[in-house]
Amino acid sequence: MGRTMIQDYEVTDKSDRMNTRSSLWLPDNEIPQSCDGTIKGMDAEDLNREAILVCPLSMEFLYVSESISTEQAGEHIIVLWTHTIYIYIVFQRDLPVYYKPWTDIARNVPELISSHSLRLRIHDMPQLETHLLRTHRELRLAHLALSVMTMGYVWQEGERETIKVLPRSLSLPFCEVSQRLGLPPILIHADTVLANWKKRDPDGPFSMENLDLLLTLPGGESVRGFFLVTLLVELAAVPGLKSILDVINGVQYNDVAMVTRALDVVSQTIDSMKQALKLMHEYVDPSIFYGIMRIYLSGWKDNPLMPEGLVYEGVQEKPLEFSGGSAAQSSTLHSFDELLGVQHEGSSGAFLRRMRGYMLPAHKQFIENISSRLSLRSFVLQQADERLTHTFEQCVARLVDFRNYHIIIVTRYITIPASRAKQLRANKQGLAEELDAIRCAPTALEERGTGGSGIMTFLKTVRDETKDTSISQCTNGNHFSPDPSITEIQKAASEFATE
Ligand code: HEM
Repeated sequence: MGRTMIQDYEVTDKSDRMNTRSSLWLPDNEIPQSCDGTIKGMDAEDLNREAILVCPLSMEFLYVSESISTEQAGEHIIVLWTHTIYIYIVFQRDLPVYYKPWTDIARNVPELISSHSLRLRIHDMPQLETHLLRTHRELRLAHLALSVMTMGYVWQEGERETIKVLPRSLSLPFCEVSQRLGLPPILIHADTVLANWKKRDPDGPFSMENLDLLLTLPGGESVRGFFLVTLLVELAAVPGLKSILDVINGVQYNDVAMVTRALDVVSQTIDSMKQALKLMHEYVDPSIFYGIMRIYLSGWKDNPLMPEGLVYEGVQEKPLEFSGGSAAQSSTLHSFDELLGVQHEGSSGAFLRRMRGYMLPAHKQFIENISSRLSLRSFVLQQADERLTHTFEQCVARLVDFRNYHIIIVTRYITIPASRAKQLRANKQGLAEELDAIRCAPTALEERGTGGSGIMTFLKTVRDETKDTSISQCTNGNHFSPDPSITEIQKAASEFATE
């Protein structure tokens, strides 16, 4: 059967603002009407000018909506990716005016926590209906606002005076909104990173200087740095995510050159993600991260501070348990793992699979579709093509490298401050400011990530499982440069610590 490269098709919304280009191979009998450069526009009223492009390789469909333009200056934009291309969504500056009681509180969470009055404000909050939230973007903004208020409410007093019940004014709308989005009623990566930014100058670049958060939590500039650097890591992942489709197409049509080219993009992408991750050092202070911010990202599953979970008043009487926000909920690395055939087993595999329940359903589905569509590793072995094998190996090596670098970051932001905290508590020495920040740190979370994992064993297992995917690992022995051993990691991390 013949096949055609649908090249550089342009997707535009009804106002002709969208300008996303892409290309894909399709069998001739599968070329959909809508891949010829036009898009099936949906009713503007109903779908808020989102359009749907039906496309077999996207497995379902993808949403395309408005892109930014100068006359929309000041509006919030969110970029997410799903299926084949990015979704651009222009956020309205605010939720509908009816939700002002939420936004008034959500915008002032750090101040209300510091004056110990957030819980009181939430008790006085009116019970709002959620049916006026109509579009995806309104629901996402509402989830963000409700999640920030919830984390503030739960952790207002740090690890002292933890609460057992989330009041109805918060729990009911949060559960309703979460249900409509297919997300859990807790703060997640898709809130604080993917739905929580705006450009200062809408025509300017995606850079730290030109980005700002919509909502924040205690921790000042370090919170901004933490969420925005993570966003830059997500953005760096985009070319590789888009190339996944080319890999799938290439494998399907036995096109070794196409698969090699696409894998080359994936490998460069993973390296760019690592470069973006390095910005963490510049923008996030470890003692603020460890001592102040971390607790507000923590959940109520596997958390000794809330062993019973949390009752969502008016929803159900039995407490519910949810993990806190973690970039383990980002779909980027999960996608590359599925593409390369990295197998995560045992408890680390179970944790990562559980984290998929904290992703947008479209992202989760995208990840699951990758593995059901292809076995890239078998294809590479079968083809025995030198360049293809080399590029595949490079992808695996870069993923290992990213995970090694991430371990260094975690050592600097969690392991070292945790041991410093112990030391400070024992000796009561240290700079006053550092003492203050670290004194607030929850002792119960010393060995755990915000997602609830036992950190280092988990991260190293995941890294080692990535290494095991290497083809030369099973044919010629390990070709990776040696891992940073614990001492090397600690040395690298202590260099940062003594900067
Ligand atoms: C200061 C910065 C960071 C710290 C302290 C940190 C900490 C952690 C911790 C403790 C875990 C274990 C899971 C949990 O319980 O939450 C984890 C997992 C993970 N983190 Fe981070 N993280 C940071 C930044 C990032 C960034 C920017 C990314 C990029 C998207 C990222 C990606 C991941 C992934 C994918 C996992 C799951 C394990 C894996 O697949 O290797 N992290 N992180």
